[in-house]
Amino acid sequence: MKITKPIDVTIVGGGMITEMQIMPSIYHLQRQGAVKEINVCALNTPPLKKLSENETLKQAFPGQTFNSYPDYKVESEDKIFPDLYKEVIDKMEERNIVFVALPDQLHYTAIIYALEHNQHVISVKPLTLSYNEALEIEKLAYTKGLFVGTEYHKRFDDRAGMARLKYRAGDFGEFRIGYATLIEPWYYRDSNFQNWCTTENSDMFTYIGCHYVDQVNMITGLLPVEVSVYGVKDKYPNGNEGYLWTNANVIWENGSSLAVINGMGYPNVGPGGNSQGIWLFTQGERDGGLMFHDDQYRGVKHSYITKGNHPGDSYYNEPSPDYLKLIERGGEGLTPVGYGYRSIEGLVNSVHRVEEGGDNLEDRQAIIKKIDDEEIIATPSNSSFNELVIEAGRMSILNDGRSVVIEYGDSPTVKFKEYK
Ligand SMILES: NC(=O)c1ccc[n+]([C@@H]2O[C@H](COP(=O)([O-])OP(=O)(O)OC[C@H]3O[C@@H](n4cnc5c(N)ncnc54)[C@H](O)[C@@H]3O)[C@@H](O)[C@H]2O)c1
Repeated sequence: MKITKPIDVTIVGGGMITEMQIMPSIYHLQRQGAVKEINVCALNTPPLKKLSENETLKQAFPGQTFNSYPDYKVESEDKIFPDLYKEVIDKMEERNIVFVALPDQLHYTAIIYALEHNQHVISVKPLTLSYNEALEIEKLAYTKGLFVGTEYHKRFDDRAGMARLKYRAGDFGEFRIGYATLIEPWYYRDSNFQNWCTTENSDMFTYIGCHYVDQVNMITGLLPVEVSVYGVKDKYPNGNEGYLWTNANVIWENGSSLAVINGMGYPNVGPGGNSQGIWLFTQGERDGGLMFHDDQYRGVKHSYITKGNHPGDSYYNEPSPDYLKLIERGGEGLTPVGYGYRSIEGLVNSVHRVEEGGDNLEDRQAIIKKIDDEEIIATPSNSSFNELVIEAGRMSILNDGRSVVIEYGDSPTVKFKEYK
């Protein structure tokens, strides 16, 4: 990574993804000099206290800390601070990074606020819940020469990179039909998800299905043109209702089809962190082709003689070494490895690339265009088909799975399919 200037990072949202992936990655980048100051904002103090007291993070990054907003050492845990992140952004020097890790429906407001205050933005997926919002973000960022990237970490799983090169070289033939699945653990129901991943805001396809839709585009270059999503409603422990199981069908511009099955129900006693994988069936002139990625079981079997108290802990485990693990690599503490880290490194690196343009707006814009055209880092310009899919998916699931078509052209839009 070419480090142009020390960059401050304000992470907005201190929940599960921050604790699991963003924090270890950003700490490691800080250790390497690519990141300077780290602020973390949450709605209230409990997640910040948890983050600060996380033993694994302390062991991996001894002596590294973050500025807590609100300050968990001072404020009471039942007080909420929904707008404090804005005050933190107001105080940042221009052209640093705001890393948005809020619940899905809050991304848009925070991203626009950060851009208006001249900050580069990295957002967890999905960037927004509508195409027009993503377009507005793209335009505003480009006008100001600011980078916006969406964290689709599966793009940095090397097996997807291998498949992309092989597919683009013609070695698979053409994608015809496939299925992908990602079932998150049952215990997610007990977490903060029950407060926001409810029927009116999101669903399991929106939350997690987008990874494989994005991956099919990344590998094949095809655009999705039609979506239908059937959702099974279940109650969370707090009584809120969510679409906790979804079955989506995504049709692509060449007529091919991908079934995407998502849920919040992988057994707590199961050996993996979740259940996930993709099967793509392709065809050439004389034979069929096949791409199969088991993205959960990656060849590791461990059976421990001890077990922790976390609901997902089990004696027999099939841990993935490939998403994000903290291991010894020499030097102080532990080093994050895996595509979860590489993805965040790639996004922060993109900000440094844009900053090579310095105060010259046109130079920064030219670098943004180059990153868009490479299609490796997800940007609003090269990946807003994802927002169209999410928009279409939400429209479909709220209408009992009716098919919704995506129309591209000058003003892309989604609408119910008409049957003649
Ligand atoms: N596979 C993936 O790429 C992946 C995995 C998990 C989560 N995510 C995405 O990350 C986002 C967050 O998910 P999570 O699992 O961490 O959720 P979470 O519920 O654990 O955490 C949400 C956090 O947002 C904070 N928050 C809410 N409103 C706020 C406000 N007004 N100001 C400041 N902070 C506020 C809460 O305090 C909490 O810390 C979601 O968009 C989700 O889709 C992506």
